[in-house]
Amino acid sequence: MVVTSAHTREEIAELQARILELKRKLKAVIVAHNYQRPEVQDIADFVGDSLELSRKAKEVVDAKEIIFCGVHFMAETAAILNPTRPVLLAEGTAGCPMADMIDAADLREWKERYPKAGVVCYVNTTAAVKAECDICCTSANAVKIVESLPNEEILFVPDQNLGHYISTKTKKKMILYPGFCITHKRLQAEQLLRAKEAHPEAVVLVHPECVPDVVEQADAVLSTSQMIKYARESPAQSFVIATEEGLLHRLKSEAPNKTFYIASNALVCPNMKRTKLEAVLKTMEEQRNRIVIPEDVRLRALRAVERMLAVA
Ligand code: 13P
Ligand code: SF4
Repeated sequence: MVVTSAHTREEIAELQARILELKRKLKAVIVAHNYQRPEVQDIADFVGDSLELSRKAKEVVDAKEIIFCGVHFMAETAAILNPTRPVLLAEGTAGCPMADMIDAADLREWKERYPKAGVVCYVNTTAAVKAECDICCTSANAVKIVESLPNEEILFVPDQNLGHYISTKTKKKMILYPGFCITHKRLQAEQLLRAKEAHPEAVVLVHPECVPDVVEQADAVLSTSQMIKYARESPAQSFVIATEEGLLHRLKSEAPNKTFYIASNALVCPNMKRTKLEAVLKTMEEQRNRIVIPEDVRLRALRAVERMLAVA
């Protein structure tokens, strides 16, 4: 399923032109996650996975503000890394249910239970949770980050599925918080089996937020941007994609001669799809949805994110 807004091509082009005009006037930079709607990805200066977006946010020096098309924790990560520029979340109601499954008080309680454990948080967490962690990770670097810590025990929050995948790649003892992504969880092992039977020649690329019996069926377990690189460089011609369907837009534009099949039509993140062109324009016009983080929290969260960037 391709998710687009209910506009004609002309209306989309007009909205995009108005956004780009205003972007020039404001000297803004627009960044977008790989799951955003195609017409939103197309107006962005940069589209990427969580790790690339963090790196990019840090590098922004020649723009006056950052317009973030994605979900709340991603814009927050940009604000943690780039405190001198306003970061505006294009759609203020776009959150991540997995990030909301743990708060700082929950994590402090778990840390008391496992005092010897190194604490690794997935980037899909609030700034307040990041502030409680030793180091942050994304789906692109999680195993490497866990391996970088001296601790034998690792408390991993909040994604139990990513945590389980890491546990298959490390000898460390992984203690997993029971969070999960509601979107990736919808993909059942039988559905992926059926997709593989329908396309036996295709290479199967799976995001580690999927449940373990889906991940087990993968030819490669990758972050969203790693999937794009893999598809571009692989000699294979077709791929079954087990992640949010927004990625197909970039896959098709970056590997136009190859064929991509989404593993299930249920792989749509409603939060990622909330950001529409009208919201981007309104946010820029009204200068709304600015991310504000208390400075003491930001500084502690920054430590965890910068440690990750140094290792990765
Ligand atoms: P990546 O793009 O970093 O692989 O993350 C996927 C995701 O679900 C972000 O919310
Ligand atoms: Fe959160 Fe899952 Fe949506 Fe990513 S795909 S933003 S983890 S709910």
